[in-house]
Amino acid sequence: RLGLNTKTLGQVIHYEESVPSTQKIAHDLAGSGAVEGTLVIADEQTAGRGRLMREWHSSSGNGIWMSLIMKPHLPPQKAPQFTLITAVAVVQAIEDVTGLQPQIKWPNDILIDGKKVTGILTELQAESDKINSIIIGIGMNVNHSIDHFPDEIRQIATSLSIEKGTRISRSKLVQTVLEKMESLYSLYMKEGFIPIKLLWESYAVSIGKRIRARTINGTIEGTALGITEEGVLKIEDGEGTIHRIYSADIEVNI
Ligand code: BTN
Repeated sequence: RLGLNTKTLGQVIHYEESVPSTQKIAHDLAGSGAVEGTLVIADEQTAGRGRLMREWHSSSGNGIWMSLIMKPHLPPQKAPQFTLITAVAVVQAIEDVTGLQPQIKWPNDILIDGKKVTGILTELQAESDKINSIIIGIGMNVNHSIDHFPDEIRQIATSLSIEKGTRISRSKLVQTVLEKMESLYSLYMKEGFIPIKLLWESYAVSIGKRIRARTINGTIEGTALGITEEGVLKIEDGEGTIHRIYSADIEVNI
């Protein structure tokens, strides 16, 4: 149905009209022997979730709500890099399909003109030293008009069709995301994170800008320098101290 040109990603697809969360289904499938590349996709989620236990608004028929199961033979510390690989795949797919030029806000937001169009949620099933599965949740606002968004997120969210002014094919987008993801994943397994890091930095909004990072240990302000080889964000504060940020909410252009 998708006309996929991939070898593994999306070769097994569980499509559902309406589910609480594709992420939950993918977790269950991953725990019971699903093959790498298994995709769970739904038209609507009634309990979609974002990072930090936030609600993810996933109305019927106009978005892409999907979760992809990956099974790399890697140690668990590598899992956060998959958020960045996925972000690059999503940006490249949006560029190819729509001609729009999205940017990435570390670690997982895809923005157009400063508004969020896609979120990525990477979760891990692991033993102490090896990954069993990485569940990559991707939520893309595709054919939403502005009044599809609840009031409280209208200022900060957008959709591809709002930005482009036309409807966009969801199946073409899913297909392209999976194709980009498959080629970036194979590049990563062959050559490591450096080529991904360079691509990621070329799309990042925050590099060289002043940003504010709210972490559980407090707020850090400074200049975003880039990401490390592990995918960790580096910020230099006013005193020249370099902070490594593993998890935070980021504000750009402060
Ligand atoms: C974020 O920006 O906080 C991440 C949002 C991730 C949303 C996707 S939609 C498909 C998958 N199922 C979920 O419940 N969440 C992810």
